[in-house]
Order: sequence, then C-alpha cells, then structure tokens
Amino acid sequence: MDHQTIVVLDFGGQYNQLIARRVRECSVYCEVLPYRTPLEEIIAKKPIGIIFTGGPNSVYADNSPRIDRAIFEQGIPVLGICYGIQLMAYTLGGHVVSPDTREYGKTITYYDTECVLFKGLPKQGISWMSHTDYIDALPAGFTATAHTDRCPTAAMQDPVHKLYGLQMHPEVLHTENGIAMLRNFLYEVCGAMGDWTMGDYAQTAIDALRHKIGSGKVLLALSGGVDSSVAAALLSRAVGKQLTCIFVDHGLMRKNEGDEVEAAFADRDIHFVRVNAGERFLGKLAGVDDPERKRKIIGEEFIRVFEEEAKKIGHVDYLAQGTIYPDVIESGAGDAAVIKSHHNVGGLPDYVDFKEIVEPLRLLFKDETRALGRELGLPDYLVDRQPFPGPGLAIRIIGEITPEKVSILQNADAIFRAEIANAGLERDIHQYFAVLTSMRSVGVMGDGRTYDYTLALRGVTTTDFMTADWARIPFETLDLISRRIVNEVRGINRIVYDITSKPPATIEWE
Ligand code: XMP
Repeated sequence: MDHQTIVVLDFGGQYNQLIARRVRECSVYCEVLPYRTPLEEIIAKKPIGIIFTGGPNSVYADNSPRIDRAIFEQGIPVLGICYGIQLMAYTLGGHVVSPDTREYGKTITYYDTECVLFKGLPKQGISWMSHTDYIDALPAGFTATAHTDRCPTAAMQDPVHKLYGLQMHPEVLHTENGIAMLRNFLYEVCGAMGDWTMGDYAQTAIDALRHKIGSGKVLLALSGGVDSSVAAALLSRAVGKQLTCIFVDHGLMRKNEGDEVEAAFADRDIHFVRVNAGERFLGKLAGVDDPERKRKIIGEEFIRVFEEEAKKIGHVDYLAQGTIYPDVIESGAGDAAVIKSHHNVGGLPDYVDFKEIVEPLRLLFKDETRALGRELGLPDYLVDRQPFPGPGLAIRIIGEITPEKVSILQNADAIFRAEIANAGLERDIHQYFAVLTSMRSVGVMGDGRTYDYTLALRGVTTTDFMTADWARIPFETLDLISRRIVNEVRGINRIVYDITSKPPATIEWE
C-alpha cells in the first residue's frame, strides 16, 4: 500500500476512535495502536505523523501510561492531545500540576495564530476541555501557543522538532475549528497529501477480511438495515461464495422493502437466502395485542427461522455482524445498552455452530458506514434508510395484527414517505413513519357514513434517538399527505399528527 499513514497512539481516552475518524475525514489513512506498541513497530509503518490521544490518568499516577522519549527523536511530527500533551511535556522535562479545580466543557481559548496549528483561525474560540492537570512549566525548546483564563498552556509547540500539543479536544465538534487544527497538523506539519479515500478504505477492509477468513465459511443475518447491508456488501466482495446471507422476511417490513433487499443482493456472487416467513409470523401473532409479547414472539420466531436455515448450511467458521462503532460504545453501560438488548434480536450466537464472530464495521461511524455502502455500489434506498425497528410494523400497529392491517399501514406509510421526499424534507426529519392506531371513528365520504381506522403520523428530529423533538412538518405538506392517504388507502378515514417529544413519549408507539 503506498498511501501516507498517521499512527494514533491510544492512551485510553474516550474519543480515540473519533480522532481516527477525523483523520480519515481529512483524507489521510490512519491506524489506532495501543500506546504500548514497540517503537520499532511504529517506525516500520513509516508514519508521516503520530497523534497521542487523551486518557483518564494523571502523568504522576504510579500506573499511568508512559512513553519512550525516543519517540520524539525520530524526526516524525507528534501531536499530543489532552493527556497526550501532558505526557509529552512530562517526558521531555516540563512540569505538570494537579490543582484542586478542573476545567471541563466549553471554554474560551485564546490562540497564537502564528502557530501553524492555528493558521487561518480567529484569535479566540470556544474549545472543549476535559482535564484537571495542566502544564505549568514547558520543556526546553517549547513555547505556549494558546491559553485559557485558567490554563496557561492550552497548546504548545517545538516547531524545530515538529512537536505540538493541544490541551483541548480538537476532535469533538464542540471545539470551534478543531478539525481545522487537526487538518493544519496533517497538511502543514506532516505534509499530508490527502491520498486516502473511502475506496481505499474498502480495499483495505476487503484485504483484511480475506486474510482473516481464508477459505472459511461465513454466515450473516441480513436485516435489510444499513449496517447489515453494508457488512454483507463488504463480505461479498471479500469472500464471495463463502458467504451466506440469511434474510428472514417476517412480513412486517415496509412496502416493497423485502423485494428491495433481495434486488440489492440477489445478483451478488454470494449465497443469498430469503425466507418468506410472513404467514408464519402472523400466525404466531394472531390474537396478541400486548406490545412486549409481540416483541418477544417476533424475537423468538426470528431465531427459530434463522436456526432452521443455518442448520441446512451446517458448521460455519464465522458469524458476521454489522456492529458499528456507536454500538460498541453503547454496549458499555447505561440505559442505551438496556434499551438495545430488549429491542434487538438477541441470542443468535447460542443457536449457531460457529468458531468466531467477525464485525467488519466495528470501527466506523454511521455516516462512514453509509459512505462505504455507496462505495460498494449499494443503492441509495438501502444506504440512506432510516432506523427501522427489528419487530417492524408489528409495533406500529397498535393492538392485534392482521394481514389486512399490515397492508393498510404499508400503503399509508408509503404515501407519507413519498410526500416527505417530494417536499424535500427527507434529510431534515430523522425518522418518520405512520402508525395504525386501530381506533375507529365515524366519518363521511361521498354521501355515506364510514367507520374506519385513525392513522397517526410521526416525524421526529434527533441526534441520538435517545431524546427527540417532533418535526415541524409544514401544514401544506401534512394537508397533502392527509388527503392522499384518505383518498387512496381504503380503511382509513382520519389522520392525526403526533406532537409529543421524547421524553415523555417514545419515538415508536409500542
Ligand atoms: P423508542 O421508541 O424507544 O425508539 O424511542 C428509539 C429508536 O429505536 C428504534 N427502535 C428499535 N430498533 N429494534 C430496533 O432495532 C427495536 O425493537 C426497536 N424499537 C425501537 C426506533 O425506531 C427509534 O429509532
């Protein structure tokens, strides 16, 4: 591979992968390595620069991560961030203090714009700080190039040896111009040329998968969502026929969705198995109206169908999953993890005979996953798909589910989505869908009385789906959607729009 490389040395901070992602955004290849990686190994990668991440420690703690000072003597530019700047100062003979108070959050920071890191930036800006210790005496050869009201060394440099440090976190968006600072380091200090693209990323990932999987067999549960679709596309390029994708169509997808997924994968050179299990799922769900019971039934049935199909294949070497980086963070602790485990179809690994799990998207963020999907030739309707719950329309039909209700909801939801697209609002509303309330009310159509269902429309704006606001869809658009649905979908005579945020409501109705 003949592209330039940045090595990100991981000291245990929470934003490590975010730094890597920002470097990739600047079109530079990078690898995250543990801080203990031997210096020879780092040098062997011929990096054009090294970035030290933050970390939770104080440099004076007994077991805090240290670094061999020789790393600064290779002529390779180094940028230390947060713990990284303190470690650089400490290792090179400066002094770090541990005061009683800490500096946390958005902080006004004053920059010396003569310093190449701040080239082209305003003289001050908000930056995101998260530290207690700070550098109060610089190592020989260094000057301070930024400060805050509390911290005299918010940045430092030794341009002769190409050593730089930032106390703030340039990788988080709360730091104004943070990406410009990183870009300056990459392009002005390290001489980056921007020779890294998503196409290169795909090729590297494909090579790595080939190397790992060899001639082994891989099995992937394909849901049709963005992540599993991109994982399937990547694996199909890497190992072709060694990959089997099982797509369990539970009959509760949106209109045409099952066919769209099949169309995207059927002519790839893989074993693609679509199980049309709609009747089977609806049979199990007949007469059930409790939301939790519905979820449970679908989850269990899904595993059963998957297991039956997997048995036909026999032993596989690898079970692939479309886990992306935010899932990795969320599976740490807290509410997110709990919500996920109950929402998602869990337990697959217990039911399938395999050796190891492969997660080829594990280090990517959502928008990078989408970009990779595009690179691999997946159609926009798959790549831009909004989140869709595992249990599908089952939790958007309140109460008992019947084939008739599924069809009514699919048709109404398709009109809603089409009109949001026509109005050019697709990117402004992060999730939108119709809910069949199963409540009936009296209406009048033509000269006759109707007694039909009320349909609810839901649209939300959100960054993380943990909290959400209801989307201000223009009245004219809502009006058009309402008229079209009532005119075109039999069984609906009333439309309401959900104007509750989350909390107190949730995004889905069940
Ligand atoms: P709620 O309704 O909890 O939804 O506010 C938050 C986000 O999660 C999605 N969601 C699910 N996703 N399986 C999933 O994979 C599920 O069972 C499930 N339930 C809700 C929901 O669409 C929203 O984006």
